[in-house]
Amino acid sequence: MSIAISSRRPRETFVLVATLVFNFLFLSLSSDPDPLQDFCIGDTSVAFSVNGFPCKASSDVTADDFFYDGLSREISTNNSFGSGVIMGNVLAFPGLNTLGISMNRVEIAPGGINPPHLHPRATESGIVVNGTVLVGLITTGNVFYSKNLTAGEMFVVPRGLVHFQFNIGTEKALIFTAFNSHLPGNVLVAVNLFGSNPAVPDDVLSKAFLVDRSVVDEIKSKFGG
Ligand SMILES: *[C@@H]1O[C@H](CO)[C@@H](O)[C@H](O)[C@H]1NC(C)=O
Ligand SMILES: *[C@@H]1O[C@H](CO)[C@@H](O)[C@H](O)[C@H]1NC(C)=O
Ligand SMILES: *[C@@H]1O[C@H](CO)[C@@H](O)[C@H](O)[C@H]1NC(C)=O
Repeated sequence: MSIAISSRRPRETFVLVATLVFNFLFLSLSSDPDPLQDFCIGDTSVAFSVNGFPCKASSDVTADDFFYDGLSREISTNNSFGSGVIMGNVLAFPGLNTLGISMNRVEIAPGGINPPHLHPRATESGIVVNGTVLVGLITTGNVFYSKNLTAGEMFVVPRGLVHFQFNIGTEKALIFTAFNSHLPGNVLVAVNLFGSNPAVPDDVLSKAFLVDRSVVDEIKSKFGG
């Protein structure tokens, strides 16, 4: 079919090929793969596999499978960062399985921080519901972009970029974030490097950060590394 068309209608063929190329690029650049059915409530009794959980039998699906109240609860911020996160991902809310979407609740005490971290599998968008926060992100070209946000204001963090939220106000900040993955992954930069198990050798971190091993040991001690 395309050969017949190409000889007679080069313009249409161009549009067709361009559309296919665009679709291919879009599919390969988007985050989670598109679902193949209306829903696939995760059967969490079975291990998480390549692209999620197997689907629970439709006959066992109930209204509750489409709702999750985990983000309605207040979180303690009584820790060294002064912040807490409740993740509403597929592990907590199996109804998200294969749908390429999830949300978190983030609370930050005055002076506290949701420390520099990244999500390897998702772009993040967020809205500040309460408080005043400095939201910052750093590009792969080491450019730092930041802004102070208050209630109702939104931000976006492109997939995989290091970012943070810092409470610069006097009241507890509340933020809801959304991701285009059912399991975005969360790499806390400091913990990743200095609190891994087993630990990254001191020599490696000392050389990488251009500091003495004693400095590495001090930071490691804060993260249980
Ligand atoms: C915060 O945590 C510390 C130790 O983990 C505890 O001693 C303290 O009572 C807690 N404070 C509040 C307000 O819960
Ligand atoms: C927002 O902050 C105000 C003042 O601190 C507080 O009364 C209110 O309960 C908070 N709202 C939420 C959704 O946390
Ligand atoms: C955010 O507010 C703080 C304190 O008011 C200020 O020092 C800082 O420059 C502001 N940052 C931006 C990016 O506007």
